[in-house]
Amino acid sequence: MSSIDKSKPIGVVGAGAMGRGIIQVFAQSGFDVLVHDANSSAIESALATIEKLLNRSVSKERITDDERDATLKRITPVGNVSEFKSVQLFVEAASEKPEIKKTIFKAVDKVLAGDAIRATNTSSISITELAAVTGNPSLFIGMHFFNPVPVMKLVEIVMGLETSDATYDKVHALAEAVGKTPLRANDHPGFVSNRILMPMINEAILCMQDGVARPEAIDGIMQLGMAHPMGPLRLADLIGLDVCYDILNVLHRDLGEDKYRPAPLLRKMVLAGRLGNKTKQGFYTYE
Ligand code: CAA
Repeated sequence: MSSIDKSKPIGVVGAGAMGRGIIQVFAQSGFDVLVHDANSSAIESALATIEKLLNRSVSKERITDDERDATLKRITPVGNVSEFKSVQLFVEAASEKPEIKKTIFKAVDKVLAGDAIRATNTSSISITELAAVTGNPSLFIGMHFFNPVPVMKLVEIVMGLETSDATYDKVHALAEAVGKTPLRANDHPGFVSNRILMPMINEAILCMQDGVARPEAIDGIMQLGMAHPMGPLRLADLIGLDVCYDILNVLHRDLGEDKYRPAPLLRKMVLAGRLGNKTKQGFYTYE
C-alpha cells in the first residue's frame, strides 16, 4: 500500500455540490487544497458553505475554533489550472458533460507532474474514454464520491481499462486518509452504484406516473419498509433530476436494454426545469 504524503497539495476543479464536499474532506484531513472553478462565484459560495458546516461542527464541539480556521486556511482558490504543478492528486468535479471534462483534462494534463494522479468524480461517463485524452492513462482513475460528501462514507474507485494497480493503491490510501471507505469497481456503464440505484429511482418515478401511490407514500414505503435513509423520490431531488436523467440515458444507450429507459415523467420534470433541491422544485418543494 502507498504511504500518504500530506506535504503535497490536492487540486480540485469544480466547486459545485460535489466539488465543495471533496474540498472540505481533504482540507479537514490536513491536505492543502488548490481549487479552480471557471465561475468564481461558485468558489465563494463553496467557501461560505464549508465555513457554515465547520461552524456547525464547532458548535457541536466536534472540532475547535483553531481546527476550523486551519481547515479554511488550507483551501486556496486559484485563477488558473497552471497553478496545479505541485499537486499529487487532481480531482475533476465539473459538470457531467463529456466535452467539458475532456477539455479540463487536456488542459490540466499539460501542467501536472508526470506522476500526479488524474481522477474524475464522474457518476456515469466512461473512465477509459476520459483517460484517453491524457498522456498516461495508467495514472487515470474514477474517484466517485457521494452526496453529501462530508457525510457519506463511500468512495467508489473505478478502474479504467489501463489504470495501473499502483494508481489504485495510492487512491485507495488517499480515500482512507480522508476517512472514507474505498470500494473497487471496473469501468462499465453506471459502475456499480448507479447501475443499481438509478433503476430503483426510475421505478419509483414510474410508480408515481402510473398513480400507484402518492410521492410521500412511495418514499415512506421505501424508508419504513426497506430502512432506506430517504425515499427514492427525495433522493432523486437531492442528486438532481437532470443528473438522474443523464445517467439513465447513459445506461440505456450503453447497455441497450429497455429497463433503463428514463421514465417520461422524469424527462418532463427536467424539461420544465424542476431539477430538485437545486431549483427548489422537484418531486417536492423546498424552502
Ligand atoms: N452537507 C453536509 N452535511 C450534511 C448535509 C449536507 N448537504 N446534509 C445533511 N448533513 C449532515 C447533517 O448536518 C447532520 O450532521 P450532524 O449529525 O452533525 O447533525 C447529518 O448529516 C444528518 O443530517 P439530518 O439529521 O439533517 O438528516 P438525516 O439523518 O435524514 O440525514 C442524509 C441526511 C445524510 C442526507 C441521509 O438522509 C442520507 O444518508 N440520505 C441518502 C443519501 C444518499 O443516498 N446519497 C447518495 C446519492 S447518489 C450520489 O451522490 C452519487 C451519484 O452518482 C448520483
